[in-house]
Amino acid sequence: MVPELEFRTLDGEQARRHLDELSTLYLEVYAEPPYEWGDEHAALFRERFEVQRRQDGFRLVEARVDGTLVGVGFGVTLRSSSPWWQNLLTPLPEQVTREYRGRTFAVVELLVRAPWRRRHIASTIHDLLLADRPEERATLTVLPEATAAQAAYRKWGWRKVAQKRNPLPGSPVFDVMVKRIPQPER
Ligand SMILES: CC(C)(COP(=O)(O)OP(=O)(O)OC[C@H]1O[C@@H](n2cnc3c(N)ncnc32)[C@H](O)[C@@H]1OP(=O)(O)O)[C@@H](O)C(=O)NCCC(=O)NCCS
Repeated sequence: MVPELEFRTLDGEQARRHLDELSTLYLEVYAEPPYEWGDEHAALFRERFEVQRRQDGFRLVEARVDGTLVGVGFGVTLRSSSPWWQNLLTPLPEQVTREYRGRTFAVVELLVRAPWRRRHIASTIHDLLLADRPEERATLTVLPEATAAQAAYRKWGWRKVAQKRNPLPGSPVFDVMVKRIPQPER
């Protein structure tokens, strides 16, 4: 039998019930290079997720094969007071970094389990995440060494605008990327 691949879009309350599955997926995928993250990152992920899922504009898209979670992506609307554009290694003009109500959707995570890659599962999750968003643009951060993700984001029309490093000892440098969200004609 052909396995059944299904995509679902969830709000923060629905996503809350899937946190254990999400953490398992997170641990599995980010154990791989170039990340090699472990339990500490997974604990931080859970902690942040509890905050993010309550934030304005939260949307999560999951992919399941015969009911098993194989991929996920989620994001939130940036608040006007968001620290997103802090800790940049390269300065950006204020017109880029200024956040106002509903300007930017931040893609926080996008991951697919290794056995299910290169089947356009991430592409579909990505498109569903950004579909009919009210924001003008989307942003995300990605490690320069994450070659699959870098290739995918380029293909999907993302553009690198800066690099940043969180002010924690040993924190890696991330590329900051931006993509315009097309608005429906009014
Ligand atoms: C990045 C990731 C989500 C892509 O998932 P995926 O379902 O395999 O991606 P898709 O099949 O939708 O690929 C879309 C396009 O991205 C590019 N791409 C994806 N993986 C690639 C790879 N390993 N090498 C080169 N290009 C790649 C291709 O252009 C591909 O289109 P094509 O197959 O028609 O050529 C997945 O590799 C992953 O989970 N990586 C680890 C976690 C991660 O780095 N997430 C991003 C955090 S910012």
